[in-house]
Amino acid sequence: MEVNDINKALLEVQHPAKGDRSIVELGMVDNVTVDQNKVTVTLAFPKHRDPLAEYLAGSTKAAIIRNFPGSEVEVKTVVKEESAPKKKHGLDLGLEELAGVRHIIGVASGKGGVGKSTVAVNLAVALARLGYKVGLADADVYGPSVPKMTGTENEMPDAFKEEDTDKEIILPIEKYGVKWMSIGYFAKPEQALIWRGPMACNALKQMILQVRWGELDFLLIDMPPGTGDIHISLVHDIPLEGAVIVSTPQDVALADVEKGVNMFRNESVAKPIFGLVENMAWFTPEELPENRYYIFGKDGGAKMAEKYGIPLLGQIPIVQSIREGGDSGAPAALSSRPDGVAFCELAGRLAENFI
Ligand SMILES: Nc1ncnc2c1ncn2[C@@H]1O[C@H](COP(=O)(O)OP(=O)(O)OP(=O)(O)O)[C@@H](O)[C@H]1O
Ligand SMILES: [Mg+2]
Repeated sequence: MEVNDINKALLEVQHPAKGDRSIVELGMVDNVTVDQNKVTVTLAFPKHRDPLAEYLAGSTKAAIIRNFPGSEVEVKTVVKEESAPKKKHGLDLGLEELAGVRHIIGVASGKGGVGKSTVAVNLAVALARLGYKVGLADADVYGPSVPKMTGTENEMPDAFKEEDTDKEIILPIEKYGVKWMSIGYFAKPEQALIWRGPMACNALKQMILQVRWGELDFLLIDMPPGTGDIHISLVHDIPLEGAVIVSTPQDVALADVEKGVNMFRNESVAKPIFGLVENMAWFTPEELPENRYYIFGKDGGAKMAEKYGIPLLGQIPIVQSIREGGDSGAPAALSSRPDGVAFCELAGRLAENFI
């Protein structure tokens, strides 16, 4: 039990008079200390005898005990006069919009073109079919593919300025039961290509931190290929819980994927890998659905999962309908064909990690 865990639990404590925003978002948590089993939280109130002080102290205690049964909790209160509201401009972004998101998972690989976006989009749709609340942020600022893969390329997300914080909020596009966000809705591909590193990183953060995601079980992040600056910035600025790695069975792809695995295992990142998806595991022609041709080699992903001690979440074949689904904007995971079922099974196995 660490201070960070407690802060996370405190996100559950809503202020009934402030639109049910959490005491964390409202800046009311003045101090948290953890000494073995004992947690002390100091809440700051703007005035003496705040009518809700007792109620909020009680719900703070309850939230901590609910998350850490057996802990001993003391809640203190202090009075701090409200300073002028802090105006937020530009990229001074907090994590408020992620407060209702339970699990943030990156979909990554060391190598491009292995089907990361295809897997991410289909996984999102499949999780939604299983009844989860899902969002997907396209973090590939140089080659966003989510708008096309979901048939939303002609949509433009609504945006507005929130009065009390002065913060620009973007509303995600909703389709197939999933909330989607991508830089592709705002920038033409040729524009994104000329962005320099820092600009791309900022755009990316906005695509995640300025979006009103609301309550989500899963927010998937379609990571760009490689292990560069954008990745590092992403894992440091966004509370990624862990990652799913996508690979093809081919040896070259595997070498690059190893880099991806190592990036998450690296000390400065140290995030769990929930599993490996072996994409393009075999080819099955539409007219011979029982036949499997291992054109990129057999079980390369499975062997690699074993080598690294990562669970194999699933094997997805190369089938024409998956490529067509990506091009037409109707993801294969919507169908009841074998490829649709394969994505739903994959989603089920990923979700098992969190039940
Ligand atoms: N299992 C599959 N069966 C058939 N086609 C597939 C499959 N997986 C991916 N594809 C196709 O391969 C191409 C590349 O896939 P995708 O764009 O998802 O890869 P990526 O890893 O996200 O690439 P990038 O590194 O450029 O982001 C797409 O045309 C996609 O439709
Ligand atoms: Mg991609």
